[in-house]
Amino acid sequence: MKTFAKTQLNRAAIFVVIFCGLHSFSFTDAYDPLDPDGNITVKWDIMSWTGDGYNAVVNIYNFQQYRHIEEPGWKLGWTWAKKEVIWYMGGGQATEQGDCSRFKSNIPHCCKRTPTIVDLLPGTPYNQQVANCCRGGVVSSLVQDPQNAMSSFQINVGQSGTSNTTVKLPQNFTLLTPGPGYTCGRPRIVDSSKFLSPDKRRVTQALMTWNVTCTYSPFLAQKAQSCCVSLSSFYSEMIVPCPNNTCGVQNNACVKSDSPDLASVLSSSSKNSLAPVVQCTTHMCPIRVHWHIKENYKEYWRVKIAITNFNYNMNYTQWNLVVQHPNFDNVTQIFSFNYKSISNYGSINDTAMLWGVKFYNDMLMQHGPLGNVQSEVLFEKDKNTFTFDKGWAFPRRIYFNGDNCVMPPPDAYPHLPNDSVHRVIISLLNLVTSIVASLVFLLAREY
Ligand SMILES: *[C@@H]1O[C@H](CO)[C@@H](O)[C@H](O)[C@H]1NC(C)=O
Ligand SMILES: *[C@@H]1O[C@H](CO)[C@@H](O)[C@H](O)[C@H]1NC(C)=O
Ligand SMILES: *[C@@H]1O[C@H](CO)[C@@H](O)[C@H](O)[C@H]1NC(C)=O
Ligand SMILES: *[C@@H]1O[C@H](CO)[C@@H](O)[C@H](O)[C@H]1NC(C)=O
Ligand SMILES: *[C@@H]1O[C@H](CO)[C@@H](O)[C@H](O)[C@H]1NC(C)=O
Ligand SMILES: *[C@@H]1O[C@H](CO)[C@@H](O)[C@H](O)[C@H]1NC(C)=O
Ligand SMILES: *[C@@H]1O[C@H](CO)[C@@H](O)[C@H](O)[C@H]1NC(C)=O
Ligand SMILES: *[C@@H]1O[C@H](CO)[C@@H](O)[C@H](O)[C@H]1NC(C)=O
Ligand SMILES: *[C@@H]1O[C@H](CO)[C@@H](O)[C@H](O)[C@H]1NC(C)=O
Repeated sequence: MKTFAKTQLNRAAIFVVIFCGLHSFSFTDAYDPLDPDGNITVKWDIMSWTGDGYNAVVNIYNFQQYRHIEEPGWKLGWTWAKKEVIWYMGGGQATEQGDCSRFKSNIPHCCKRTPTIVDLLPGTPYNQQVANCCRGGVVSSLVQDPQNAMSSFQINVGQSGTSNTTVKLPQNFTLLTPGPGYTCGRPRIVDSSKFLSPDKRRVTQALMTWNVTCTYSPFLAQKAQSCCVSLSSFYSEMIVPCPNNTCGVQNNACVKSDSPDLASVLSSSSKNSLAPVVQCTTHMCPIRVHWHIKENYKEYWRVKIAITNFNYNMNYTQWNLVVQHPNFDNVTQIFSFNYKSISNYGSINDTAMLWGVKFYNDMLMQHGPLGNVQSEVLFEKDKNTFTFDKGWAFPRRIYFNGDNCVMPPPDAYPHLPNDSVHRVIISLLNLVTSIVASLVFLLAREY
């Protein structure tokens, strides 16, 4: 009776934890508990005044630990305060020129009051490039590749103020990546940026600088769920699958793997390359993350993590995973993935970011035989907290590329065999492992 009550209590506790997690995730605007300071900052540095405006360098910094911008890249927009035009751009371009009919000889690059700027593509001729441009709008996350966590372009603005007292800041910034999700604040004039010369012997500075901060909210992104988690364990034959219809694909149905019109579906879908085309499964998700408790040693335990891509329409370059589990405070080894602890709560050290090894498995290929990556993690047990009971060994939360993955309901988790025979077997196994370990230790000392 006592153990039964305890079981119920623990189940309830797990449920509350998971429920609160989901709750805070969906309803707290622009606050991610796993990356509370995360934002994208757009900085304008005016480098020189011109006859009718200014030259500026615009930098987009991704200050987010794990959320990155994938192909087809960012789109930055704003509203000019007056009748400004863009004479010239380097390393980026406006998507539409707009109506420049009021100009007679010299035609501007863009006359729209609300321009939308995109990055140039890789392979742009050198004379149109600037530093940190031309990656097709792809921006890495701060943890995964800090060198590529920014993007830049140059802009020559006309019909604008020509001094720091007459210039008017552009307003109402928007950032698409390429879908919605980011809200940008007002531009603020900040201390002018300082630049160190290459020989580090001289510092120059911008004539004027303003910053715009954009923050992400999954609630605004309004994306369909894109990923789910399945679970299994060596101590149970049960595989807990992803919940049914987790990602219910919006307007297009799924494709059966043996469907004769697979090729035609794929070629017609590439027109709208953002919509996933998934293989038919019970969960219908583009991405499934499987967590398998693989082995139990005396002082360690081992988990296998596998990510499978069910999307025929997407190669996930630079994919990443964020996993929350209390034992991430004591990871002994992670095989074939990169790893960094990203906890923010000082003493609670339970969150890790995992990502692929460059040129080996950093690209999660479209659905097919190569559409999966996997790794194993060896954790060191803390005797006071470790248990296989009550689902403790399963992850609390998993994000794929910054999207929260849907977990199976806690009452579906594989549970320990509850009859005494199985428990005895498990403790015997533990005993045998420890005896073998001690023997090996003794032998090693002998020789
Ligand atoms: C944006 O992120 C940077 C780096 O983490 C941080 O210093 C800055 O305070 C953040 N800005 C806002 C408005 O949160
Ligand atoms: C504007 O420029 C003047 C000098 O031309 C300088 O003294 C002043 O601090 C600048 N103001 C701002 C907001 O940068
Ligand atoms: C920016 O947006 C606000 C609210 O939508 C609007 O009132 C304001 O006029 C806009 N500013 C410009 C310069 O368009
Ligand atoms: C403006 O942005 C730059 C670079 O993103 C950052 O270093 C600086 O601290 C920001 N300034 C303010 C006042 O947020
Ligand atoms: C999920 O779907 C499968 C196949 O359609 C079905 O066998 C199973 O009972 C469903 N599970 C739940 C919990 O509805
Ligand atoms: C994924 O990459 C492979 C190999 O580079 C390529 O053949 C395929 O067309 C790509 N698929 C998509 C959807 O981009
Ligand atoms: C968290 O745990 C990791 C892995 O054991 C360790 O490298 C890191 O230093 C720890 N961080 C803190 C703040 O304790
Ligand atoms: C990891 O486990 C070892 C052995 O139990 C222990 O000495 C160490 O303090 C643990 N580290 C953390 C961060 O808990
Ligand atoms: C123990 O297992 C049996 C089936 O093996 C099941 O019917 C029973 O509900 C389980 N008891 C508990 C407390 O989980």
